[in-house]
Amino acid sequence: MSEPDIVPPHTRTIVELGSGDGRVLHALAQKDPQTVYIGIEVDAGQCRQAKALDYLQNLFITQGSFEDLVAKMPNGSIDGFIAVLPDPSYIDEKKEEQWRPFYKIVYAKLKSPGAFRLVTEITDELLQPVGRDEFDRWTVWLLETFRSLGFQVAEVTEGSPEEYSSRCLDQFRGDPERIKMLTVDFVKP
Ligand SMILES: C[S@@+](CC[C@H](N)C(=O)[O-])C[C@H]1O[C@@H](n2cnc3c(N)ncnc32)[C@H](O)[C@@H]1O
Repeated sequence: MSEPDIVPPHTRTIVELGSGDGRVLHALAQKDPQTVYIGIEVDAGQCRQAKALDYLQNLFITQGSFEDLVAKMPNGSIDGFIAVLPDPSYIDEKKEEQWRPFYKIVYAKLKSPGAFRLVTEITDELLQPVGRDEFDRWTVWLLETFRSLGFQVAEVTEGSPEEYSSRCLDQFRGDPERIKMLTVDFVKP
């Protein structure tokens, strides 16, 4: 058998930043065997849970910091990034100056065209229900911030993708008045 026949025919690479228990990526990898999915997660316990899911030859879970690992990827090499409910250090409005450089790097690592799906949430500082005005203002800020990094906005959807399930998503969905989620599909043209 010639070598090309034994090399899996993967055509795309998708990286999840902070893949947690790995369930989102596992479901995506199961549906799309032609794509290689790489989850980066710093927490050993979460990685263990992800690795305990059924083996898939196109899913790789790596324990480490996505800041370190993404920086080592070649520029223009990744078809898509996914971030589902990133920790506040990587999305909080007040910490923007701290995390901006990281998403500039994410943008550089994307192929052209490439995509970045972000699922994130807003909560009120006093844990009161999040009002419509507050949600709309935050949405505008979020989109403008990522536009200023070079991303274009392809689609904005209130809530989280129904087909995604993870420890944090399942928990956040239980409190929709106080935790309002948003899904944004950014693209690098
Ligand atoms: C709020 S949780 C969301 C996890 C998962 N995406 C989900 O939906 O359940 C954020 C995750 O990011 C991970 N994380 C935080 N900083 C990280 C970093 N620098 N590198 C890799 N993972 C990180 C945390 O350990 C945690 O599992």
